[in-house]
Amino acid sequence: MTTFWSTWICVLTIGSLIGLTWLLVGTRKGETKGSVDQTMGHAFDGIEEYDNPLPQWWFLLFAGTLVFSVGYLILYPGLGNWKGILPGYEDGWTQTKEWEKEMAKADVKFGPIFAKFAAMPVEEVAKDPQALKMGGRLFASNCSVCHGSDAKGAFGFPNLADDNWRWGGSADTIKATIMGGRMAAMPAWGEVLKEAGVKNVAAYVRHDLAGLPLPADSDADLVAGQQAFSTTCVACHGADGKGTQIMGAPDLTQPAGFIYGTSLAQLQQTIRHGRQGHMPAQSELLGNDKVQLLAAYVYSLSHGNKPQAENTQ
Ligand code: HEC
Ligand code: HEC
Repeated sequence: MTTFWSTWICVLTIGSLIGLTWLLVGTRKGETKGSVDQTMGHAFDGIEEYDNPLPQWWFLLFAGTLVFSVGYLILYPGLGNWKGILPGYEDGWTQTKEWEKEMAKADVKFGPIFAKFAAMPVEEVAKDPQALKMGGRLFASNCSVCHGSDAKGAFGFPNLADDNWRWGGSADTIKATIMGGRMAAMPAWGEVLKEAGVKNVAAYVRHDLAGLPLPADSDADLVAGQQAFSTTCVACHGADGKGTQIMGAPDLTQPAGFIYGTSLAQLQQTIRHGRQGHMPAQSELLGNDKVQLLAAYVYSLSHGNKPQAENTQ
């Protein structure tokens, strides 16, 4: 701050304090002690104005705020370039600096705990109750919006507490998924297969792969569906339909793992228009040490050591 603005602030602040003190003392002077219920002498519509002194408590409160302001302005930065006489504000005060100080304090407190878990394999971290508790809290605030507070997913968002994995359920793969995020790309096949082809292959996926019944009046051609699958879909979903984790192509023989639904209409929709599930990367946002705890938490959900349920409501 330039000297001009610093002086400007000092003059305004000190001037106001002096002005307010003068006002307070000045208005109190004319008061006669113990004189209550004297009127100002004018009346309007039967209403009169009293000329009572300020209540004592009000006067003291006002005087108190003035004393507080003076004390505050001596101790802390506030008066232009004055740094205050308390230590720690030598570079001035900003909200950002206060926040950074808090964060640095938290780092000193929690740093060693994070470092301990970051140095352990995820599978080991997943056995530690303290780590799971911390991971559970991180999950509630960062992941539950999409995956649900019980991690059981929703339409379009996979269940993380079961054994169906689109990208892989090993501890390291789960961590890689969270760190780097995932972009799934199921192409749209409507143009290629045409309507009849979409219906046939949807029926084939539902009946022959997922093992679910078809409606009695279904006129879908399962043989044609199987043929379309073996030419169009195997590259990603595999000859047996069990999927390819490296590209996030799900196992179509496990209906419980489907995130876009297993009804014929939903399957047709998926095949006709494709799907692009996006898991956002967390490395920038949360960093390695927090993701380590999250990976351990997610891993624990499907590998025993169930953590205490966190109340996320
Ligand atoms: C280029 C690779 C690729 C090809 C080819 C492909 N898929 Fe997919 N498929 C994927 C991926 C990746 C996903 C996951 C999409 C997501 O998670 O958003 C997927 C998802 C699906 C789903 C949704 C499963 C769920 O979770 O609800 C169905 C059904 C499906 N594919 C059927 C087919 C059929 C039938 C064909 C052939 C006509 C086919 N796919 C061809 C990659 C492919
Ligand atoms: C904006 C919504 C969103 C948020 C937030 C989110 N995810 Fe996801 N996540 C997804 C979607 C969508 C997928 C599925 C991607 C696909 O289609 O393959 C996914 C997939 C995953 C998978 C892979 C599942 C599998 O079957 O392989 C893991 C593990 C995962 N998320 C963990 C997390 C964790 C931990 C967090 C919190 C840090 C998180 N996610 C936050 C949307 C989200």
